[in-house]
Amino acid sequence: MAETKTILRALAGETLPTPPIWMMRQAGRYLPEYKATRAEAGDFLSLCYNSDLATEVTLQPIRRYGFDAAILFADILLVPQALGADLWFVTGEGPRLSTITSEADFAKLGGKDDIHETLNPIYQTVRNLRGALPAETTLIGFAGAPWTVATYMIAGKGTPDQAPAHALKGTHPAVFDALMARITEATIEYLSMQIEAGAEVVKIFDSWAGSLKGADFEKYALEPTKEIIAALKARHPDTPIIAFPREAGENYIGFAKATGADCVAIDDSVTAEWAAQNVQIDGCVQGNLKSSHMVTGGDALVSETRRIVDALKGGPHIFNLGHGITPDADPENVQLMIDTVRGS
Ligand code: CP3
Repeated sequence: MAETKTILRALAGETLPTPPIWMMRQAGRYLPEYKATRAEAGDFLSLCYNSDLATEVTLQPIRRYGFDAAILFADILLVPQALGADLWFVTGEGPRLSTITSEADFAKLGGKDDIHETLNPIYQTVRNLRGALPAETTLIGFAGAPWTVATYMIAGKGTPDQAPAHALKGTHPAVFDALMARITEATIEYLSMQIEAGAEVVKIFDSWAGSLKGADFEKYALEPTKEIIAALKARHPDTPIIAFPREAGENYIGFAKATGADCVAIDDSVTAEWAAQNVQIDGCVQGNLKSSHMVTGGDALVSETRRIVDALKGGPHIFNLGHGITPDADPENVQLMIDTVRGS
């Protein structure tokens, strides 16, 4: 039977009259129903590990807006936790983890096959979702890319310039390389289990790829992504993969070909016109409306949305933001974006 899910058609390289649409962090704090379920769970991590409530928050934006894809509700930092790192979230500040800065810290981590005990509830969420989603909605699983995950594991928190990870790469290259390899192999197992549980697409988030310059980009962003994709394609050849090397700039060019990704997600620091010429020539592109339009709305939202749709209409395109929607966004602006994309 011909594929009917629009996201899967775009990922297979089809140019559609209307791009399918979903939104990074579509289940999140801008939605009152998310805040209510999160309060019921108690805290963010309890929400991630409660399969019933995680299913509920994943479905909320589908019910409200009818997005073409649902993204599994979880977090990229669950993999470090499953490897044995301590993880907690400080309200208003973000994640905190025990740090990996020495051979002794690294030696305490578990192996790739030890992660499933912690991550089993996530696979259960995926199974729940496959049973609960509308027939036309695609289910996307995800993980962080090794570099981005390593930046949090090394610094123990988010940092503006990823300096601790860059430093460890220079001062303790053996520890750094071992950590990257461990995250890479664990990520392959994690994504493979998501696919076996029912994820139809997976996305690899490399949020801090932009801080890797020159040969470092190849070595720590491109190569690990390529390795993960090759392993997943060997096991699950029919599952499309979206790569998001955020703020890669010129390094977006050729990224899909070099890594085997079926789609490259672009942030808002490049224009859609540039992406059409330089990235979409190799296949599907996802992006790239500035998420601040979800706060400010109005004519600028409409004209920018139209401009992006227009710029990328000559090839396969999945409409999305350039980064996650923020908690101060107005839910009505999301509806305005969707109506504009769908021309209704
Ligand atoms: O997109 C989705 O709706 C799916 C769920 C999802 C979350 N995090 C839920 C979440 C996804 C795909 C992520 C990815 C993620 N997590 C990334 C990569 C993408 C990106 O944004 O660059 C990163 C770097 C993280 C790590 C992380 N998780 C940080 C830095 C924070 C704190 C910042 C913040 O927004 O509060 C989180 C928390 C987090 N992850 C929230 C959500 C909905 C907010 C937690 C809450 O409800 O309090």
